[in-house]
Amino acid sequence: MIPLSLEQIARVTGGQLRHGDPGAVVSGEVVIDSRRAGPGGLFAAVAGERSDGHDFAAAAVAAGATAVLATRPVTVPSVLVADVPAALAALARSVVDALPAVRIAGITGSSGKTSTKDLAAQLVERLGPTIAPAGSYNNEFGHPLTVLRADAATRYLVLELSARGIGHIAYLCRVAPPRYGVVLNVGHAHAGEFGGLDQVARAKGELAEALPADGVAILNADDPRVLAMAERTEARVVTFSSAPGSDAPVRAVDIRLDDLGRPGFTLLTPEGSAPVSLRLHGAHNVPNALAAAALARELGMDLDGIADGLGAAVARSRWRMEVHQRPDGVTVINDAYNANPESVRAAIDALAHLAQGGRAFAILGHMAELGGTSRASHEDIGEYAARIGDSGLAGLIAVGEEAAPLLDGARRVRSWTGEALAAPDGAAALELLANRLKPSDVVLVKASRAAHLEGVAAALEGEAGQ
Ligand SMILES: Nc1ncnc2c1ncn2[C@@H]1O[C@H](COP(=O)(O)OP(=O)(O)OP(=O)(O)O)[C@@H](O)[C@H]1O
Ligand SMILES: [Mg+2]
Repeated sequence: MIPLSLEQIARVTGGQLRHGDPGAVVSGEVVIDSRRAGPGGLFAAVAGERSDGHDFAAAAVAAGATAVLATRPVTVPSVLVADVPAALAALARSVVDALPAVRIAGITGSSGKTSTKDLAAQLVERLGPTIAPAGSYNNEFGHPLTVLRADAATRYLVLELSARGIGHIAYLCRVAPPRYGVVLNVGHAHAGEFGGLDQVARAKGELAEALPADGVAILNADDPRVLAMAERTEARVVTFSSAPGSDAPVRAVDIRLDDLGRPGFTLLTPEGSAPVSLRLHGAHNVPNALAAAALARELGMDLDGIADGLGAAVARSRWRMEVHQRPDGVTVINDAYNANPESVRAAIDALAHLAQGGRAFAILGHMAELGGTSRASHEDIGEYAARIGDSGLAGLIAVGEEAAPLLDGARRVRSWTGEALAAPDGAAALELLANRLKPSDVVLVKASRAAHLEGVAAALEGEAGQ
């Protein structure tokens, strides 16, 4: 963070300084986890479900933090504010305003924000010092905390913007106004909370609306709801596409997948073409890579640099399409980070591809927050899984009560010869699978975050005596 005195922090946040020297300076990281508080930092105390950050105020200062941002009095140097996220937002905005040379990119969409942000960051880092969040740090806490890491050396901010309702992205864009905005797709993630896809489109399009006239809106031409956002922005529009026959300026042609489902393609831009081989798994990473390429191109990276950077980029955030080959020949796809209908379909496609010549199993938990369409969505996904390849999945294991409609959907496919299995929990799913698994089988593990199936994936990866 750029150094700020406690007096400045109180002024920017509209807070009151308590027990502290007004001239004491915060120059370290701003954190909401007291265990991560360090020398010169600022600890923002937040009341969570299980614990209240205010109880750790003294520990944070003992660990070196200069002060605490708090909503009730504590006994250590602190700035008392009415609302911690609003205070973090105000602080972040003041940092952005103090660093006018920093170029800010925001990435949103229903699926693939983190994957794209990680790809884009690995490109942009080649251009200069870049701050990008770790994992999915994309909400009213993670977003300002990421922005606050910027300092005088920073040249680029690559931010992930999430929304669970109308106005959320507009808010994040006020905290750190992006000049470059990427919209990936409009899908069913949290569609229940939004009240339908049109509302999701309205919310995601707030990024396009927030862009200035000298900004760039990078839009997925293959998603009509995203393409329509071109009407909602003053910024110049650049589209990308992985669809055959598209005339988008940034596109992928000759897309193919290797044995492990890693895409290769020819990247076409107005400057020419270049071959790209991704290290990431799944065809859905092609649009993600194109979005990252389009952003890097706007920031001045040449085509060879983009192709090279995409080929070198690795998965930085865990549990998204991790492909693990066990010594006994079983392949595990750990995509347990999260699930919505689009990302489950993408994962099933990857499973089908990897299982060519072997059998495919899927351990699927429920997809959360789908609202009234939840049952039908689960049934449709079950049906989709039962239709892959020549004979569908060899086994579909639905974990938990809420995932059971997956099995009903699979059973709708009369020609399906696989097994529909219900497991009350992850341990039961592992047991069902253990009796069936043979070398050269491929297993997908995927569910919404709340299901925590990463433990199931880890157990599977660790089996077979490696
Ligand atoms: N373009 C895409 N289309 C469909 N699914 C995708 C796409 N990109 C990634 N996925 C899948 O979606 C899941 C989440 O990916 P990722 O974490 O990148 O998305 P996100 O938008 O950041 O999610 P969150 O809203 O949870 O932060 C993973 O299972 C991933 O494989
Ligand atoms: Mg994310």
